[in-house]
Amino acid sequence: MNYKVGDVLISEEDIVGKVKELGEIISGDYAGEDLVVVGILRGAAIFMSDLVRSIDERVNVSMDFMSVSSYGASTSSSGVVRINKDLDNVIKDKHVLIVEDIVDTGLTLSYLKRVLLERDPRSLALCSLLDKKERRVADISVDYVGFDIPDLFVVGYGLDCAERWRNLRSIYSVETISQD
Ligand code: IMP
Repeated sequence: MNYKVGDVLISEEDIVGKVKELGEIISGDYAGEDLVVVGILRGAAIFMSDLVRSIDERVNVSMDFMSVSSYGASTSSSGVVRINKDLDNVIKDKHVLIVEDIVDTGLTLSYLKRVLLERDPRSLALCSLLDKKERRVADISVDYVGFDIPDLFVVGYGLDCAERWRNLRSIYSVETISQD
C-alpha cells in the first residue's frame, strides 16, 4: 500500500494548548509528590517530552521508558504484547503515570497496566494524547486524555505509519494512494 498525508486533524497550536492544560491538571493532582512518568516508545516520545515540561516544579518528576510490540499481525485482536524494553527503575511504592500516544483497542494499555500493577506501585494512572473510543475492545479507562478522535488512522507528533511522519508538528489523517 502507498499512503500520503491527508488533512490536518489537530493543529500544532491545539496540541500545544492541550499539552499545557494536561500538564496543569497533572501538576495539581500530584503536587508535593514524586511521579514516575513512563513513556511508551516510540510513539509517545514527542508527547512525553512536551508533557513533562508542562508539569511544574510542584511535582518531582522522573522519566522512564518501555518499548512494546504486539505479537504477529493479529496483535490488536489478540492483545498479546511483548516487552522489548522494560523499565530501568523499580516502581514499587511510587506514583506512576503511563504516557501513550493513542489508545485504540486499548489492549496494549490494559496489558501494560496489568504488568505494572503486579510491581506494586503506590498508584498507576494512564495518560494518552489521543483516544479512539469507537475502537475500544478492552475495558480500560484513561485518566488523562488530550483529544477524542474518530476511527481514522493518524500520523504526526510522534505517531507513524510504517515509521514515517513522526516528525510532523500537527496530527494528520492518512490517505491510501495505491494498493501496491
Ligand atoms: P491498541 O492496543 O489497539 O490500543 O493500540 C495502541 C497502539 O497502536 C498505539 O500505541 C499506536 O502505536 C498504534 N496505533 C493505533 N492507532 C494508530 C493511529 O491512528 N496512528 C498511529 N498509530 C496507531
